[in-house]
Amino acid sequence: MSLRFFTAGESHGPAITAIVEGMPAGVPVTASVINRQLKRRQLGYGRGRRMQIESDEVELLSGVRHGLTLGSPIALMIRNKDWEKWQAAMAVEPPASPAEAGGPGGDDWRLRPVTRPRPGHADLAGMLKYGFEDARNVLERASARETAMRVAVGAIARQLLAAFGIVIASHVIRMGPVAAPHDPSALPPPPEAFDRVDESPVRCLDEAASRAMVEAVDEAKARGETLGGVFEVIAWGVPPGLGSHVQWDRKLDGRIAQSLMSIQAIKGVEFGLGFETGARFGSDAHDPILYADDRGIYRPTGRAGGVEGGMTNGEPLVVRAAMKPLATLYNPLPSIDMAALKPAEGAIERSDVSAVPAAAVVAEAAVAFELARAMIEKFGGDSLAEMRRNFEAYAAALEARGMRGWRRPAQQ
Ligand SMILES: Cc1cc2nc3c(=O)[nH]c(=O)nc-3n(C[C@H](O)[C@H](O)[C@H](O)COP(=O)(O)O)c2cc1C
Repeated sequence: MSLRFFTAGESHGPAITAIVEGMPAGVPVTASVINRQLKRRQLGYGRGRRMQIESDEVELLSGVRHGLTLGSPIALMIRNKDWEKWQAAMAVEPPASPAEAGGPGGDDWRLRPVTRPRPGHADLAGMLKYGFEDARNVLERASARETAMRVAVGAIARQLLAAFGIVIASHVIRMGPVAAPHDPSALPPPPEAFDRVDESPVRCLDEAASRAMVEAVDEAKARGETLGGVFEVIAWGVPPGLGSHVQWDRKLDGRIAQSLMSIQAIKGVEFGLGFETGARFGSDAHDPILYADDRGIYRPTGRAGGVEGGMTNGEPLVVRAAMKPLATLYNPLPSIDMAALKPAEGAIERSDVSAVPAAAVVAEAAVAFELARAMIEKFGGDSLAEMRRNFEAYAAALEARGMRGWRRPAQQ
């Protein structure tokens, strides 16, 4: 059984939790390493007040001892800091009175049922599917609060990857109408080029575009609008041969696409040239295979995004995703009241103007998890040391065949 995880928890419940299973023993993991990633998810111009309330911190409940994984299931918990205000609205026990259930006489807005589904959110489909009158039963779980846990789980995956020299970064290349200069067929710059990307309020490498993106967020906010965008996730140091061509559900590009598409509000995923590849001649769409004595086998371009035949090919993995503008609008779109079946405006929950920079951090975590899973499948082993032996033997075999440019120094 390879690496897997589940999350549980409502947005305004007491906590978000997860169980990660299949992580080998001996991977260095501490709460502070995870908290650093959680902090990055809370960055980004355009986030609402909740980001200040949250300051997420993980608690590791099992599977880690003295800073190293044990190979046993890892249980994690992130408490919701504003749970106190939601205790009645999100209580497990049935309400004692109609007022407490949000009926007449209740003065806490949190208790009132949400009956006006927001176009673009999970509200309507979830109410219909599960037979709910109150969309809160849907939106509490559809909410991107859950992505805090994906980032925490991804932070553990990153620790495994770092032990093999694999590093992951991301940057925002579009926010609404503003696009940063970007060439999807070029090989990405080295990871060091991303060292300071978190210092940009929109996590964009281009300073002029960063400023224009901030202005676009301000303008959207003033108009009660929201903004989507596009970001890119890059992984360096990935060995060739992760994933496989032999079966549909082993293809790594398919798996990564699934995990990125499952992030709230992601509506498109592309590798390398992506959609543009459909407009090109074949001679202009692929990466020639070259050899030089000092570099070994290499590719001069990054049009495939580092995946061919569902397998990594030894080049940096480059994947982009498009995020839709957030569905909660302070100037709501037309909707209906599900209780009366009469026209009404979509409900308003506390909401962000844009969360593209944060979504890119969540996407890094998703890519990290899929890569860690693929590494465990390829190199097996119950402990990191055993995995390393298998990895080194494979790296030596690749070296003997002229493939060496992919490797980066491992941490610790
Ligand atoms: C980091 C992040 C933050 C988000 N914040 C909000 C938000 O404040 N308001 C909102 O309406 N949607 C927000 N979303 C998106 C919704 O959760 C998402 O649109 C909704 O669950 C419906 O799912 P779908 O868009 O994938 O169809 C956010 C998504 C992410 C990744």
